[in-house]
Amino acid sequence: MYAHKGVNVRLTIRDIAAMKRNNEQIPMVTAYDYTSGIIAERAGIPMLLVGDSLGQVVLGHDTTIPVTMDEMIHHTKAVIKGTEKALIVADMPFMSYQISREKAILNAGRLLKEGGAQAVKLEGGTRSAITVRRIVEVGIPVMGHIGLTPQSVNQIGGYRVKGKSLKGAEKLIEDALDLQAAGAFAIVLELIPSDLAQIISSKLSIPTIGIGAGPHCDGQVQVLHDLLGLFDEFTPKHAKRFIEGSELFTKAIQQYIQEVKSQTFLVNIKKSKIKTKDTLNQLS
Ligand code: KIV
Repeated sequence: MYAHKGVNVRLTIRDIAAMKRNNEQIPMVTAYDYTSGIIAERAGIPMLLVGDSLGQVVLGHDTTIPVTMDEMIHHTKAVIKGTEKALIVADMPFMSYQISREKAILNAGRLLKEGGAQAVKLEGGTRSAITVRRIVEVGIPVMGHIGLTPQSVNQIGGYRVKGKSLKGAEKLIEDALDLQAAGAFAIVLELIPSDLAQIISSKLSIPTIGIGAGPHCDGQVQVLHDLLGLFDEFTPKHAKRFIEGSELFTKAIQQYIQEVKSQTFLVNIKKSKIKTKDTLNQLS
């Protein structure tokens, strides 16, 4: 199959694989709607994640657990509309891939067919590997996610660094190798020691994308609201606020309020064609 002439073609998992081969770092960020998609793409991001972190930063939940398939599809569609080039990975929400392999394939397929994503991400290492294999077999690219897996927050008992013990580190290496063998095209390494992330990255031929995993991964992923300083409730230690967005936006809205109240809020509105006082008199 060939892309239609003149139609923009998105980056593919082959381009992402080539970035690792060429020692080119892979920047990834989350996007949740049309506007954030446009902004991230204009900045030149090659790969966007419609993360289930939207549960917290967009929908106001405490965790990612309540996020539904319909919500993921809804937000993915919006990001797709705002982008043309970036590879869009959509998160499979909690309980959309754990019940059965058939359900997992069906739900991964919905993110592509209804949402428009090019790939899906799901959490878990060895325990998710067979599911990953089945989804990949039907032609859907899968990104793995190991280390801290936020959908298991209740099992883990909080958001804590994983793989600090020798046994924990060995398990994560095994998880990563199993995901690669299952056909995952990349793996997110969340909140693991930097030296362990380096070992995993060197053992894999597919790219590792780190978040709180140090500088030795093949790429980095961040939550957009953390980068832009939009989310006040919690800033993870591994997040860098490039601007204080929440403060900037609040100030802009305060200025607007002040201008409306003082009747100094002026925008360029076309001058009325009504010119003479007589015409105005006719209207009153
Ligand atoms: O949902 C999300 O934003 C994620 C990233 C933290 C990797 O899964």
